[in-house]
Amino acid sequence: MIKCRKEVNLLTPYIPGKPIDDVKSEFNLDDVIKLASNENPLGCSQSAKEAVILTLENPSLYPDGNCTKLRNALSKMLNQDGDNFIFGCGSDELIGLAGKTYISEGDEAITCTPTFSQYKAATVSMGGKIIEVPLKNHAYDLDGILKEINPRTKLIFISNPNNPTGTIVTKSAQEEFMKKVPSDILVVWDEAYNEYIDDPDFPDTLSIMKKYDNILLLRTFSKMYGLASFRIGYGIASKDIIGYMNRLRGPFNVSVQAQEAALASLSSFDFIKASFDLNEASKQYTYQKCSDLKLDYIKTYGNFIMIDCKLPSRELFDTLQKQGVIVRPGYYFGMDTYQRVTFGTLEQMQRFFELLEKELEKTIS
Ligand SMILES: Cc1ncc(COP(=O)(O)O)c(C=O)c1O
Repeated sequence: MIKCRKEVNLLTPYIPGKPIDDVKSEFNLDDVIKLASNENPLGCSQSAKEAVILTLENPSLYPDGNCTKLRNALSKMLNQDGDNFIFGCGSDELIGLAGKTYISEGDEAITCTPTFSQYKAATVSMGGKIIEVPLKNHAYDLDGILKEINPRTKLIFISNPNNPTGTIVTKSAQEEFMKKVPSDILVVWDEAYNEYIDDPDFPDTLSIMKKYDNILLLRTFSKMYGLASFRIGYGIASKDIIGYMNRLRGPFNVSVQAQEAALASLSSFDFIKASFDLNEASKQYTYQKCSDLKLDYIKTYGNFIMIDCKLPSRELFDTLQKQGVIVRPGYYFGMDTYQRVTFGTLEQMQRFFELLEKELEKTIS
């Protein structure tokens, strides 16, 4: 047998939830809903779909490796120089590129736990060590991270809001933190859910980047814009950082379809508003249902919520899945009585809570 690199042996593959079609056939169901991967229940905008259809005219040409049209549009929208952008096959790819660019054997990256799993993979795959500081009250413990900094530290990964808990690092906490982080450590602020937040306490990372050039800001089109299947995310950082990362990026890493759909999505204002409003409505509905059922939950800033269902998460997950509702069980994150539930439509949330209520009633009777 041909041996792989020793770093590869330390990794485990990402285990996604079962696709809807698999659950349908395994449990003989017609109607299955997925509230497991923080996707947009409204799909994507009509103009994104139309833009993708137009690309089918010419599939034989490689995509624009520079993502020029999208780069120009984002550069105008966010008031950033075009050279400060990098585009990836999902922000996942950019997390991996940050590891490839900055981690050598023996280097360290710091994050909190539980958080998005790809920070660990990006570090360990390069022979680095990931330092995982436990969350404090379900939120990033920035003081805990600062205490772990040492000469081997190269990267700090912060999911803001945090997947899976939905908590945020506030604007003032971000400012205090950045003051204390040495300038030779790159801080990756992963704002995959940024578009769902309208709160003055949430950081304006683009503004603080004027003061600190050791920041890589990540955003994605997978969540609010509903383009998860096309795989496109972007990073913003200093030209030096982007220049290094570009040396490792595949030349045609973002498909034509992803670029065109993303471009059309940026100006799909009605769709964006509808997605934001639905997320808020589902959130308020969920808060109310949790309080009716006397269940604790973590106040969330994303399009998902951690609910303490007071039942072992694996069993509850299986029971819900058999009845056509797929969520993300808390044991994945070391939070065994919780379920992470993506905000769906109000009907979908109602279906989830009806099933949950039935299971809770069984424990009383
Ligand atoms: C915090 C966070 N970062 C990054 C990603 C990856 O998103 P993408 O689809 O852009 O790769 C996710 C996806 O769930 C996420 O939760």
